Amino acid sequence: MAPLTETLREGLSLWGARAESLDEGVDEAFDERRRRKLVAHGASVAAFALAGAVLFWPVDWVVLDAVARRAFSQWRVVVALLAALYLGLARWSIAPRVMTALLVASLFASTAVAGDAMARAGDPGTPFLHLLYLPLFATITLPFTLGVRAAITIGVALSAAVGYWGLHPAYRGHPAGALWWSVMLSVASLVVWLGHTLFLLARENFAHQRRLSTWNHELELHVAERTAELRALLAHIEGVREDERTRIARELHDELGQELTGLAFVARHTSERFERDPGAIRANLGEIESGLQRTTALVRELVSDLRPRMLDDLGLVAAVEWLARRTEERAGVRCGVRADELGELPSSTRTVAFRVVQESLTNVLKHARATAVTIELRRESRALVLSVADDGVGFDPQRASVTRRGGAGLLGMRERVQSIGGTLSVLRGDSQGTVVRCSLPR
Ligand SMILES: Nc1ncnc2c1ncn2[C@@H]1O[C@H](COP(=O)(O)OP(=O)(O)O)[C@@H](O)[C@H]1O
Ligand SMILES: [Mg+2]
Repeated sequence: MAPLTETLREGLSLWGARAESLDEGVDEAFDERRRRKLVAHGASVAAFALAGAVLFWPVDWVVLDAVARRAFSQWRVVVALLAALYLGLARWSIAPRVMTALLVASLFASTAVAGDAMARAGDPGTPFLHLLYLPLFATITLPFTLGVRAAITIGVALSAAVGYWGLHPAYRGHPAGALWWSVMLSVASLVVWLGHTLFLLARENFAHQRRLSTWNHELELHVAERTAELRALLAHIEGVREDERTRIARELHDELGQELTGLAFVARHTSERFERDPGAIRANLGEIESGLQRTTALVRELVSDLRPRMLDDLGLVAAVEWLARRTEERAGVRCGVRADELGELPSSTRTVAFRVVQESLTNVLKHARATAVTIELRRESRALVLSVADDGVGFDPQRASVTRRGGAGLLGMRERVQSIGGTLSVLRGDSQGTVVRCSLPR
């Protein structure tokens, strides 16, 4: 059970909501809007008053005597005329300030006329006196600030008093007067409280809407940015795939094709020789054998480039060690591998980890001008943590991720890692160089 003070504070928090607790600029923006809305709200009050004055007119013939009816009719005519005037003018773009002044003046005037009418309908002992609380309610829906609202409400109460007690001095000193004033004061306070609560709720609602629309806007920007990134990545992947096909086709044609043509030639030559001199084909067979060995090695290398079988057969550590050795052989960069005993890994984690190491090493060779790289594979309770650290020139990953020109490698890595629920970060090394670190589910 919440303590009473807390409950009270929560209840009163709306009233305590000052400008500071709202987002910056909300107060000004709301002020701007409520001023614009004042004319429209005034129009709804006027329409309501006009309808009330005209539609209930026939009821007077049923419930009132002739004297009261005449007094009420005068009041109805005044209300209807003032309301019609306001509604007529509201269609023109007259300054809101002028329209509001007209509205308030009409309210005061019609309330004073109502006071006079009620006084002529009967003395303070009749119920007509108490109908004068009703005009106070006209201000509830109008979006005034607290001070203005209080002033206008008091103005309405005074207008009623002027119409009733001011124009009819004979009624002063009537015993019902004290009761009327005290109820009038209570109703006025109630109306100010209700009206201001509505005002604060509207302001709070406005602030929420504004915040939502800001978030929405940010979200849209973010989505647009991500979409552009993914589109760029897709284009890049398409390009890479085409390049890869071209490379494989060329290698198949140039290397494998030539080897096979050569082998075919030797085979033909061997069979011709077999007819003539069967004993002399030993050398040819040796040539065929070494040709086949070269072809096999070529095929193995091609296949390894596509997807090293050892990744599936011998596991991630062996495949990473193979990549490291190859990098050392091909580029002369020292390449150390430190790996825990990783145990069984999901196939997706194995593949993604391998590709991250592969792309990172490619980047090291392409951009880093490094002399050494360290690859670490650590086993944590729920993750495989992988890092590739070089001692090269380094770069600002923040800027690379902003421009993303030609940066589809890093972006592609990140997407791959995220697609299986991992995270990837690219950091500056401790002293120099770059560290690519990623954590993958295991
Ligand atoms: N290990 C690294 N050392 C230095 N710069 C790097 C390294 N890795 C990446 N970069 C920088 O980040 C950029 C983005 O890399 P990447 O996304 O792989 O694209 P690409 O390799 O196609 O240029 C590179 O152009 C390079 O400037
Ligand atoms: Mg790259």
